[in-house]
Amino acid sequence: MKISGNTIFIAGGTSGIGLALAVGLQNEGNKVIVGGRRSALLQEISDKYPGISTVVIDVDDPRSIRTAHESVTEEFPDLNVLVTMSGIMYPEDLKNPDFLDIAERTVTTNLLGTIRLAGQFIPHLMTKPNATIVTVSSAVGFVPLPVTPTYNATKAAVHLFTESMRVQLADTSIRCIELIPPGVRTTLMGQENSESALPLDDYIAETIGLLKAHDDATEIVVDAAKPLRNAEINGEYQLVLKILS
Ligand SMILES: NC(=O)c1ccc[n+]([C@@H]2O[C@H](COP(=O)([O-])OP(=O)(O)OC[C@H]3O[C@@H](n4cnc5c(N)ncnc54)[C@H](OP(=O)(O)O)[C@@H]3O)[C@@H](O)[C@H]2O)c1
Repeated sequence: MKISGNTIFIAGGTSGIGLALAVGLQNEGNKVIVGGRRSALLQEISDKYPGISTVVIDVDDPRSIRTAHESVTEEFPDLNVLVTMSGIMYPEDLKNPDFLDIAERTVTTNLLGTIRLAGQFIPHLMTKPNATIVTVSSAVGFVPLPVTPTYNATKAAVHLFTESMRVQLADTSIRCIELIPPGVRTTLMGQENSESALPLDDYIAETIGLLKAHDDATEIVVDAAKPLRNAEINGEYQLVLKILS
């Protein structure tokens, strides 16, 4: 993906990695539109970051995705990059059937949300030169964090969805990039002060550096994500799983 001159829609850009990436990509010379459910945050973002546009979107709701798609593509017909950042992460206790509620919500947002966004935007993106879909999985989609089983499963599924999408879209103008973040200090599952997670600014700087250095990248894997991303390849899967358990 070229690093500047794009019109980028980040679904799930109201906080954390999505918002920081939006600001970083705007600084690189892109037009950025961020989406999310929290309209008060969207207002704050457009006040604080002139030039960043906003749209309300709930990826759990196909009608909301359609409405957001309509308004974004009408207002920004040059839109050529979609980032499917929306995600939730909660611990689950599989011995208590109450976990099923969290499981269903997690699949709906993280997996179905990604698939629905891709389905809605592919026809538009196919009409644009240099189009890109950036999906967001996780290092724990490669070796699971046992306390968040459904979260891990959705991220592993996003990985394989992206791999398949890349092959199916190979004869179109759309390239597919998967961000595979390690633990990053955001409010996701209360990690904002976690010593074992990467500071958000460091994660964004390394990610943008990798995007700049490798315009044909298919995965963006910062150094901190490599032990999990490559555990199986390196024959260290069981060892890493033990550390995460
Ligand atoms: N932080 C980490 O350690 C880490 C590691 C690996 C992967 N990731 C992934 O990175 C992505 C961003 O997470 P984050 O850490 O930046 O956490 P975050 O600050 O909680 O951001 C999550 C974003 O997803 C949006 N979202 C959640 N449910 C949504 C829905 N139904 N419709 C639309 N947007 C929705 C939220 O916006 P609204 O609430 O305004 O809708 C918010 O903008 C997620 O996919 C996460 O799984 C994070």
